[in-house]
Amino acid sequence: MMKYWSERTKRCTPYIPGEQINDPAIIKLNTNENPYPPSPRVKEAIQQEMENSLHRYPSSTLDSLRKVIARQEKVQKENVFVGNGSDEVLAFAFMAFFSPDKAIRFPAITYSFYPVYANLFQIPFEEIPLKRDFTINEHDFFRSVGGVILPNPNAPTSIYTSLECIEAIIKNNPDHVVIIDEAYVDFAPGTAVSLINRYDNLLIVKTLSKSRSLAGLRVGYAIGHKHLMEALIRIKDSFNSYTVDRLAIVGAKAAMEDTSYFAETTAKIIQTRNWVVTEMEKRGFFVLPSATNFIFAHSPDYDAEMLYQQLKAKNILIRYFKKPTIDQYVRISIGTDNMMKKFFQQVDEIIG
Ligand SMILES: Cc1ncc(COP(=O)(O)O)c(C=O)c1O
Repeated sequence: MMKYWSERTKRCTPYIPGEQINDPAIIKLNTNENPYPPSPRVKEAIQQEMENSLHRYPSSTLDSLRKVIARQEKVQKENVFVGNGSDEVLAFAFMAFFSPDKAIRFPAITYSFYPVYANLFQIPFEEIPLKRDFTINEHDFFRSVGGVILPNPNAPTSIYTSLECIEAIIKNNPDHVVIIDEAYVDFAPGTAVSLINRYDNLLIVKTLSKSRSLAGLRVGYAIGHKHLMEALIRIKDSFNSYTVDRLAIVGAKAAMEDTSYFAETTAKIIQTRNWVVTEMEKRGFFVLPSATNFIFAHSPDYDAEMLYQQLKAKNILIRYFKKPTIDQYVRISIGTDNMMKKFFQQVDEIIG
């Protein structure tokens, strides 16, 4: 029935998400979710909202949630845009700031949704090779033709780029938007949010899916100059006025407000990550320096795809990308200490 497909449908190559298997027997370390549940305040807020107002449309301007996010991020409400997961915010940003006739740049090894959006919206792109150690050379991103998108920390490499380098990239693209995708920044040294006061071409995108334990609720947001926010709102309101539902609004507010729970769970994951890195190194793995809630590791002795398959057979799910340069690496999300102990038991059985 391809004859009924639009040219756009024929052209697109959809993103392939990590396997979502809801079997409690499986230890799921493949999609960088948080192993801890969200703040208990999220459940309370959602339950209350369910009793009250689901027969009414949610707010289309999301003022109350934007206000809470603005307070936490130390910016104004006018500097905040909220969407249905940061993937949606990124899609709107591609539409709002990148053009079909001007090539954008992103790293050759990065979040694989970027080329998907670029193809969908017919935006040409240049994939910039990383250095041998998987870090970026910031000069390669200077003076782009159509803009830049860069995750910091990068995925799946887990490597953090210093704010000096990020600032240099923003400064050297004065006529185009630079999107910094900070999905994992809460596990890293620091956010670039304060730079929005100096650079009106900077768009920061964040998510509640990782550090706020809300992957299932679908809330992400952008921070930037109010003119950038106006562009995102134009696109959103040309597409769907109500992208974020009532339960997501109240749940996200509760999660953003519970700063002590956030600090506690984030610190715990960083602590577990550091222990996991040491344990991996003891077993001969080479682990890239991680500033995220996952690690990217390579063993000179064991084939990466085989390790992925053998762990899967033992009910442990990690992520493997069959792609040049990284096909001997596996990406492992950080779970609880207990999950990681079980992971190492199985790894030890496999590698002897
Ligand atoms: C770099 C990066 N950006 C964005 C996202 C999307 O997150 P979400 O749509 O859940 O907010 C992810 C998810 O894995 C990611 O790794």
